[in-house]
Amino acid sequence: MNPTPIGIFDSGYGGLTVLREIVQLLPQYDYRYLGDNARSPYGPRDFETIYHYTLECVQYLFAQGCPLVILACNTASAKALRNIQQLALPKIAPDRRVLGVIRPTAEVIGNFSKTKKIGVLGTVGTVRSESYLIEIGKFFPAIEVSQQACPMWVPLVENGELAGPGTEFFVKKYLDELLTASPGIDTLLLACTHYPLLEPVIRQFLPKEINIVSQGGIVAHSLADYLQRHPDMEMRLSKQGLRDFHTTGATEDFDGHASAFFGEGGKVRTG
Ligand code: DGL
Repeated sequence: MNPTPIGIFDSGYGGLTVLREIVQLLPQYDYRYLGDNARSPYGPRDFETIYHYTLECVQYLFAQGCPLVILACNTASAKALRNIQQLALPKIAPDRRVLGVIRPTAEVIGNFSKTKKIGVLGTVGTVRSESYLIEIGKFFPAIEVSQQACPMWVPLVENGELAGPGTEFFVKKYLDELLTASPGIDTLLLACTHYPLLEPVIRQFLPKEINIVSQGGIVAHSLADYLQRHPDMEMRLSKQGLRDFHTTGATEDFDGHASAFFGEGGKVRTG
């Protein structure tokens, strides 16, 4: 029988930080990852382009047998998810589902803050969409949310520049801008799947009292909850613990980087 894995999509490598947490919590399922490395970064692109690219990638994962696809990419979740769910799915695949990462994060992020001031770091696309302002406002109206776009961070991560003076410069630059404009923040949300890879450098330039929150664990628990509430979907998923990795870019580059992201070098395959 052909596997029916959970599809995990990101514009590049970043979604591997989410997949790592999902696999840890739900190791029994099969997973098929697609990184659109050839067209990354998505952050600076316009709405239409992000929608078009994301839909293409979702259709690829559907053709690969995935009944359920997670957009493990904030930019795609912000710009493409709603139209995919409301306009595309009813036409192309009414029996399949596509989920994003913004709503599950917004549902819980307010619980992390005592000062009721949260900083959200994301791509230009995510920040401009104001999706986090809107979604967090629904669940935690008393929380003040300050956003900061960090356009240089994804290119640094995609090129494996996770440390060193150049990376430190750009990490410090955006943190300083945010903290100067919005004092009192005690919780910093890394609202881009690439950013957890920069966490050691971010920590270096962030006051100790500010907590860093990454999305991987949040998204994993939200997926577990979704599968419990949707037994029909859960029953359609194959469970052999298989994982495979696809990229629109160069497979040799993906192989080299993905093991660093996923932390399981020997198991990474590309196709
Ligand atoms: N990793 C994606 C996100 O979570 C965006 C990266 C990009 O700009 O391509 O927003």
